[in-house]
Amino acid sequence: MKPVTVTTVREMKRAHDKIVCLTAYDYSFASLIDRAGVDMVIVGDSLGMVMQGHDSTLPVTMEHMVYHSACVARGISRALLVVDLPFGSYQASPAQALESAGRLMKEGGAHVVKLEGGAPMLDTVRFLVDRGIPVCGHIGLTPQSVHQFGGYRVQGRDDPTAHRIREDARLLEEAGACLLVLEAVPAALGEAVSAALEIPVIGIGAGIGCDGQVLVLQDMLGLYPRPSPKFSRNFMQEGGGIEAAIRAYADAVRSRTFPGPEHSFN
Ligand code: KIV
Repeated sequence: MKPVTVTTVREMKRAHDKIVCLTAYDYSFASLIDRAGVDMVIVGDSLGMVMQGHDSTLPVTMEHMVYHSACVARGISRALLVVDLPFGSYQASPAQALESAGRLMKEGGAHVVKLEGGAPMLDTVRFLVDRGIPVCGHIGLTPQSVHQFGGYRVQGRDDPTAHRIREDARLLEEAGACLLVLEAVPAALGEAVSAALEIPVIGIGAGIGCDGQVLVLQDMLGLYPRPSPKFSRNFMQEGGGIEAAIRAYADAVRSRTFPGPEHSFN
């Protein structure tokens, strides 16, 4: 099986093939997800919530990310592995980001590192990319800024914020990002951002028009004991086991039946 690379996902965008992505945090689930044909796995700092039971992603450390990333990397033979830089591990300076990203790649097996933020992160993105580190941006609802947003709120609902998100996306691509995660924005904005960029845009609560979709594994399997976001869907309710649910999710993304209007924002 040919491994998925950043070139593969770019070609998938050009061919209008939807990119299927899920989060994972351990070896067993990563193996199952990889076997089910998911194209991209994100070791998200959402592990702070779904694995550790915190209310936010803020307490997650570099040690946690390296540990979970290494576990996931051992389970993957095909999927592209994207790993989050946790809060406080990259915002201080490009040099700090380089040190953290280097650890995620050397010790955690990451293929791509993901960081949150738009314009203020451009120097850091350029610095990492110039040094051979593939970077995935993350804009829209950026969970590490939850206290700045005053909660987990849909972003880009008014013209100035929608404009800023479109501009941040363009600037991140220009700075060298090879992927972009767009979270919790109106579907029309998700479609506009995806159409404007050459790099693949992976949506989570950003509507059907994105180049790919990602969900938090625990949400799509109905394993998280707290309420899941509106944009998620429980694929376990549809019968079959865990692998069947993951395959059903992949089919739904590829056939463009997920996300439906009920999982999207206007
Ligand atoms: O932390 C995370 O799991 C993420 C994905 C949902 C994109 O950032």
